[in-house]
Formats: sequence, structure tokens, C-alpha cells
Amino acid sequence: MDNLLELLVERIGEKRAEHSIRVMDTAVKLASHYSSDINKARIAGALHDCAKYRDKSYLLKRASDFGIILDKTMIINYQLIHGPLGAKVAEDEFGIEDEEILDAIRYHTTGRENMSLLDKIVYMADYIEPSRNFSGVELARQLAFKDLDESLIYAMNNTILDLIKTNKLIHLDTIKARNYLVSKKLYSSLNL
Ligand SMILES: [Fe+2]
Ligand SMILES: [Fe+2]
Repeated sequence: MDNLLELLVERIGEKRAEHSIRVMDTAVKLASHYSSDINKARIAGALHDCAKYRDKSYLLKRASDFGIILDKTMIINYQLIHGPLGAKVAEDEFGIEDEEILDAIRYHTTGRENMSLLDKIVYMADYIEPSRNFSGVELARQLAFKDLDESLIYAMNNTILDLIKTNKLIHLDTIKARNYLVSKKLYSSLNL
């Protein structure tokens, strides 16, 4: 783990690595709360931003080197690229082979339809890590430990509303992720 964190600082700088450690610690807490694999949560949390490079042309170049097909939304909102690129970098440079961990890294920004428990843990850990201080974060923190799906719906609704307010594109995976969770809740409330 020490080597992994050293390499992470080398790749993305100290500040982003500090955020990654806070996400790692939060992911571990959520994993233990929901009886999920703590070691997987630790690695996925630590590496979720391992490809969060600042430079757009470098992001695009590396994505093309790995043969990642980028959709229009990713090209325009290029910050989204660090998700799928991160999964490749975690495999290639950090030697991670576990598909569940790689998927949690791949989908930590957009979410996806039918997210795994680890996907959800990393997504929420990134959203609520202790240095986050946007309005509503306290409620998100409470929800995350009370009802993980409800916390994801809350986080995704906020994210989608922000994207609409700033006239940005919404990635289809985010819509699919949110709709999947909302329809699951609605179906269960129908008692069918
Ligand atoms: Fe990220
Ligand atoms: Fe992050």
C-alpha cells in the first residue's frame, strides 16, 4: 500500500493524492458498514483519481494510446475521461487486475446502470470525503451510512441539477444510473 501511495503522489501530485487518501479512508468506513470487501474499497478509493491529469491534450493522448473510445459527452466534458482512463492506468501502472476494483474506478464519476456495491461505495466516498463542504453534504453523509441507494439518488440529482444550471451535457451513464436506482425504489414501494 505504501508503494502504491508513493507512486500515486508521483503521478497526480500531493494535493490530489491527499484527496485520494481521504476517499480511501471514507470508502473503508462505508465498506465495513455495509460488510463489503475492505481491501478492495481501500485500493479502489486510493486509485479512483489515478489518471486525473490536468492537461486536456495529455488525457486525450493517453486515452487514445489505450484505445479507449470516447463519446461526445466525454470529449466535451473532458474531465470525465479520468474515469475510464483511470481503470486502464490502475491496471497498467499499478498492477491492479481485479475487475470489480477497475470498474469502480471506471465509473466513479458518471456512475452506471446497476452499480455494484463497490461502485456505490467509491462514488459516495468521493462525494462525501471530509474536506467536501458544499451545501447538503451533511445530509449526503448521513444518508450514505443509512441508505446507500438513497444517498446515490441524492448525489446524482444534485449533480444533474448542477449540470443543467450550468448548461453542461449530462453523461448517459449518469442518467441510467440514477433512473435504475429511482425505479428500484419506486417498484419496491409498490409492494408487487
Ligand atoms: Fe474523480
Ligand atoms: Fe475524486
